[in-house]
Amino acid sequence: MKKFTDVHDIGPFDAAVREALAIKSDRFAHTQLGRNKTLMMVFFNSSLRTRLSTQKAAMNLGMNVIVLDINQGAWKLETEQGVIMDGDKAEHLLEAIPVMGCYCDLIGVRSFAGLSDKAEDYEERVINQFIRYSGRPVFSMEAATRHPLQSFADLITIEEYKTKERPKVVLTWAPHPKALPQAVPNSFAEWMNAAGYDFVITHPEGYELAPEFVGNARVEYDQRKAFEGADFIYAKNWSAYADPNYGKVLSTDRAWTVDAEKMALTDNAYFMHCLPVRRNMIVTDEVIDSDRSIVIPEAANREISAQVVIKRLLESIC
Ligand code: CP
Repeated sequence: MKKFTDVHDIGPFDAAVREALAIKSDRFAHTQLGRNKTLMMVFFNSSLRTRLSTQKAAMNLGMNVIVLDINQGAWKLETEQGVIMDGDKAEHLLEAIPVMGCYCDLIGVRSFAGLSDKAEDYEERVINQFIRYSGRPVFSMEAATRHPLQSFADLITIEEYKTKERPKVVLTWAPHPKALPQAVPNSFAEWMNAAGYDFVITHPEGYELAPEFVGNARVEYDQRKAFEGADFIYAKNWSAYADPNYGKVLSTDRAWTVDAEKMALTDNAYFMHCLPVRRNMIVTDEVIDSDRSIVIPEAANREISAQVVIKRLLESIC
């Protein structure tokens, strides 16, 4: 593996999940692989889980880790090419990226969508510049349009908890006061479609995701109908994708909050969310605190998905 930015980079799922479960049962089996190797984690945006789980995964592999928060202490970076740099940005990514590459062996990047220019976001300008100019294997720690480390952890979690060969998995939009990117739902859809599950997406009208991510999923605008017989409910908010409303909040309707009455329509489904979650907006306390909520084991699997990816990237350079 030379990079990890989308579902195609992971290869066959059965091998990836087998490797994940082997690592989970002995996470220190490969401590020599990362010896004298350095991971640089570059954050353009905030994080709790990704920062901690990825650093822990690298440490499990014997690596040294450098964390750079671009907005806290680093020079403000210009990302546009060909501009006259007479504003507040002191350094261009074109120098900053290869310089970062000098000090490490692998680079993880978190850079969210700006949500004002759809074309710019869906071009994945920032992470693609890291791939092009760093000279190092690069992996996404959530980019503008995808969050593959999260989706891989979600896949591992579903494989661990499922009781049917082909479970019904429902991705449901839920309300949130702020405009959020489509990266998590896009990526979740990409991975669930590839897994071949019975996959349904439910959201209010106006929240349609990009067709290339929806793929073969069934779209159901009636949330209650979508929940019927589900084995897993995956809640997430996202802002509008379709023009002219790209990046906008069209609704904060709490009728879409996941509650116990809707969970009762499912086949005793597990509740999932990538976290952080807004309680009693996205999901009621009753549901997230119930014994069918698996948000903590799901977050714990972020260490495992990161470790598989970093291990494979290290194997490509050793
Ligand atoms: N789920 C997730 O990526 O969490 P953080 O934003 O805290 O890293």
